[in-house]
Amino acid sequence: MRAFEDKDFMTAALIGLLGNAYLWVKAGHIIFVIFWMAGLFMMPRFFVYHQESTPGSAEDRLWVEREARLLRIILKPSLIVVWVFGLALALDTGAFVQGWFHLKFLVVLGLSGYHGWMVGYARRLAAGDRRLSGKTLRILNEVPGIAAVLIVVLAIVKPF
Ligand code: HEM
Repeated sequence: MRAFEDKDFMTAALIGLLGNAYLWVKAGHIIFVIFWMAGLFMMPRFFVYHQESTPGSAEDRLWVEREARLLRIILKPSLIVVWVFGLALALDTGAFVQGWFHLKFLVVLGLSGYHGWMVGYARRLAAGDRRLSGKTLRILNEVPGIAAVLIVVLAIVKPF
């Protein structure tokens, strides 16, 4: 019982934490969501073209470099900012106790897992390991689109 009261107190103390910065943080959240999604859409496309090159060729090395840059400049920083701003918004609004947020959190965790898979697959390609077919990669390319539809509906409509 005591722990429950403490949790309530913590939630109440954090609500409104961002003050006037709330809308700026939300704008930043959505801007970096766009950058992250752009990277998530581009990478599997890169993989499809990369796989068609001969391992060790000049074209292969070019794709390795392009993938590394997309990860370093767009995907990694965007993932971090989306998470930091998203968690700040959740603390500010008390979203952690709301149903829509629980599902959004799960889908976003899945999307972060997809990001991690891409980092791993880029490493495999760089090592000459091309284990998935172009068709499978094209199907996997649908994952971020489906996740985005679910997340945006949950965040805006808040159906439960
Ligand atoms: C990475 C973890 C994420 C967390 C912790 C998070 C958390 C949040 C929170 C708490 C809000 C405020 C909701 C409100 O104002 O009631 C929000 C807003 C929003 N989020 Fe996220 N989010 C995350 C990732 C994403 C992703 C990946 C997308 C899109 C693909 C997204 C799309 C949105 C949108 C569109 C809004 C604006 C909703 C509104 O103002 O009505 N978020 N997010």
